[in-house]
Amino acid sequence: MRIIAANFKMHKTRSETKKYLEELKKIKFNGVKVAVFPPATALFEDKVVGAQNAYPAINGAYTGEIGLEQLNEFNIKRVLIGHSERRHILNESQEFIAKKFNFYKEQNFEIFYCIGEPLEIRKKGLESVVEYLKAQLEGIDREYENLIIAYEPVWAIGTGVSASVEEIRDTHREIRKFTKRPILYGGSVKLNNIEEILNIENVDGVLVGSASLDVEVFKKMIEIAKEI
Ligand code: PGA
Repeated sequence: MRIIAANFKMHKTRSETKKYLEELKKIKFNGVKVAVFPPATALFEDKVVGAQNAYPAINGAYTGEIGLEQLNEFNIKRVLIGHSERRHILNESQEFIAKKFNFYKEQNFEIFYCIGEPLEIRKKGLESVVEYLKAQLEGIDREYENLIIAYEPVWAIGTGVSASVEEIRDTHREIRKFTKRPILYGGSVKLNNIEEILNIENVDGVLVGSASLDVEVFKKMIEIAKEI
């Protein structure tokens, strides 16, 4: 089964997200698993919706965060953990990320778990990349039945330049040695490269940022995935 996921990041309001979801439902997904991660203010009770982030607690004194209680209100059972922007801009440590993973695993959530190396590591070659990715999986149950891994090289996110077919193939082959769970690619996935990327061995789907913001583009991406 192909997995096509949209990460809105800090884009879209609640009303825009509502319209987006209505528009999205006009097509059939057939065998494709579709996930949409809107900002916390735009969560809806909808089986495609997941949270971009959540604190590893039911509730509590964690200013600015949302936890299980807030997700439960919308019946949300899907969360994105370890995105590079949270690792690098919000300074989340591997230890904290693993804590989130384990808390939401305990709750049986579907976890989209992101890993990906910065450019200086990629420049050192595949072996260094693999070491780096391994460290990002520390404390994570790699065979958790509701785990979906997203490989997103930091240098390809939001840059308009995705990793090459060879880089994706070689890296996914290495990640496959760690897990049997689905592996998504993310980082400048667009309408003009999605088909090529989905056809790479060990690529089970994509996590799309900027290009997913236009619902018509995202729908076309799902249509492409349906044909593969
Ligand atoms: P991008 O973002 O598609 O804009 O590169 C991907 C992501 O960060 O998930």
